[in-house]
Amino acid sequence: MIYLKYSNVLFEKVKEHGIKQQEIQNYENDFVKIHSVINQKINNEQLMLGWAKLPFINFEVDKILKMLLEVKNKFDTLLVLGIGGSALGNIALQTSLRDKFWNSLTKKQRNGYLKLYVFDNIDPDSLKSLLKHIDLKKTLINVISKAGDTAETLSTFFILYNLLVKKVGKTKAKKHIIITTGPKTGFLRELVNKGYSQYDFTIPENVGGRFSVLSPVGLVSAALTGINIKKLLLGAKNMAEYCLVGKNVTPQDMKKNPAFMFALINYIFYQRGKHICVMMPYSDKLYGFADWFRQLWAESLGKEKDNNGNIVNVGPTPVKSLGVTDQHSQLQLYREGPNDKIIVFLSVERFTCEIKIPKFLEQHYLCGHTLNELFKAEEKSTIASLTHAKRPNISIVLSQISEETVGKLIYMLELAVAYAGELFNIDAFNQPGVVLGKNYTYALLGRKGYEKYLEELK
Ligand code: PA5
Repeated sequence: MIYLKYSNVLFEKVKEHGIKQQEIQNYENDFVKIHSVINQKINNEQLMLGWAKLPFINFEVDKILKMLLEVKNKFDTLLVLGIGGSALGNIALQTSLRDKFWNSLTKKQRNGYLKLYVFDNIDPDSLKSLLKHIDLKKTLINVISKAGDTAETLSTFFILYNLLVKKVGKTKAKKHIIITTGPKTGFLRELVNKGYSQYDFTIPENVGGRFSVLSPVGLVSAALTGINIKKLLLGAKNMAEYCLVGKNVTPQDMKKNPAFMFALINYIFYQRGKHICVMMPYSDKLYGFADWFRQLWAESLGKEKDNNGNIVNVGPTPVKSLGVTDQHSQLQLYREGPNDKIIVFLSVERFTCEIKIPKFLEQHYLCGHTLNELFKAEEKSTIASLTHAKRPNISIVLSQISEETVGKLIYMLELAVAYAGELFNIDAFNQPGVVLGKNYTYALLGRKGYEKYLEELK
C-alpha cells in the first residue's frame, strides 16, 4: 500500500503558510477537466504520454525474461551505460529493491543474478576505477540511449567496446552487448541493424527518457538483478487504476487521487513563492528515488515558455535530502531559514528487519529500543518541528518497500508530473534546454550538420 498524507500543508497546521480546504476544493472542476485532457493525450499515440500505458502492455517483458534465462549463468556482471533518464531509474530500482551492498555479495547470495554497475558520467578517474572491478569476459554491457547519439553514452561505449574486443575478439564481443534505443533513428539503432548486439530492446517513440523506467530502459537491469518486473508493472497498473487513468472522474474523486493532490499542492505553493520542493526519504533504499524524482520534476516542469508561447520561466526546484543523515546537515535551514520550500517525506512503515539496540555496560536510554523505533522517532520529530515552525510538508507513505509499492510510487509521481504540466500550462514532456546542450556539444566536437550551433557559441 502507498498513500499521501497532506494534513501538514493545511491552514489548521501551518497557519498563514498553509492552504485552506476551500482553496483545494476550488480546483475540483479543474481536476475533472485536466484529468480528461490527460486521458485524451494518453490515447493520442503521437504525444509523449506512452509511459502511461506501459504497465498495461508489459512492453517487451517476455523478451527480457527470455534473455534473462539465456544469460544468467553465462555472465557475472551487467554494466549499464546511459545518462539522465537512461540511468537514474535503473539506479533507483536497484537501490530500493536490492541489497545495499549487492555487488559485494557472492553469486550464491545473489541467487545467480548479475552484479550491476550503472556508469552515468564520463569522468576518466571513475572509468579507470570501474575497470578494476569488472572482468569484461564475464560482463554484459547494456548501452542505453533513446536518441542513440548521446555523446556521453557513446563515448564510454566506444571505450568499453574497444576493451571488450581486445579481451574476447570481435565475434564474441557481440554476445556481450545489449542495445536499448529508440525504434528508428540514431547511431545505436544503426548498430543494431548492423548486427553489433546479441540483444536489442526498443524505447517506444512516445516514451521520453525520464519517463522510461518501466520500459526496457529500467526493466532489463532490474530483471537481470532478480527484481520481479511483472510485480513492478502490476504495482504501477494498480496505481493507474486507483487514479482512474483512462476513466471519467467526478469532482469528488479529486481528493482520492494522490497524483493530482501531489501536483496541486506543489502548484499552489509555487504560486505562493515556495519554489523549492525537497524530497526527503526516511530510508536509504528510497534515496535513489529522490534523485530520479529530481530529474523528473526539474526537466519536466522547468520551462521557458507556456503552452501559449509566452515567456514564463517557470519551474519548481527539486532538492534531495536524506533522513536522518541530513537532519544533521540541512534541517536547520529547512526549519529556520527562508520559508520557501515544501518538504516531501518518503516514509516506510515496515522495514525488512528489526534491529535491537542491545544492553550496554552502562545504563542508557537507547538500550532496549530498536533502530527502527529510533528512525521513526526522528522522522516524527522532524515532521513535528517543521510543522510547528509553519513549514508545509507532506508524506508519501509506503507500507513496505516491495516491487508493488515501488511500481505504485513511480506511476504516481509520473502521473503527478502530467497533472502539474497542465496546472502550470506548460509542455511537461519536452526538454529543449537539454537538447540544446547536446547540440552545442556535438558542434564543439565537430559533428557534421551542427555548424550553426558553433556559430551561436562563437
Ligand atoms: O528525459 C530526457 O529526455 C533526458 O534527460 C534523457 O534521458 C537524457 O538526456 C539521455 O538521453 P538519451 O537516452 O537519448 O541518451
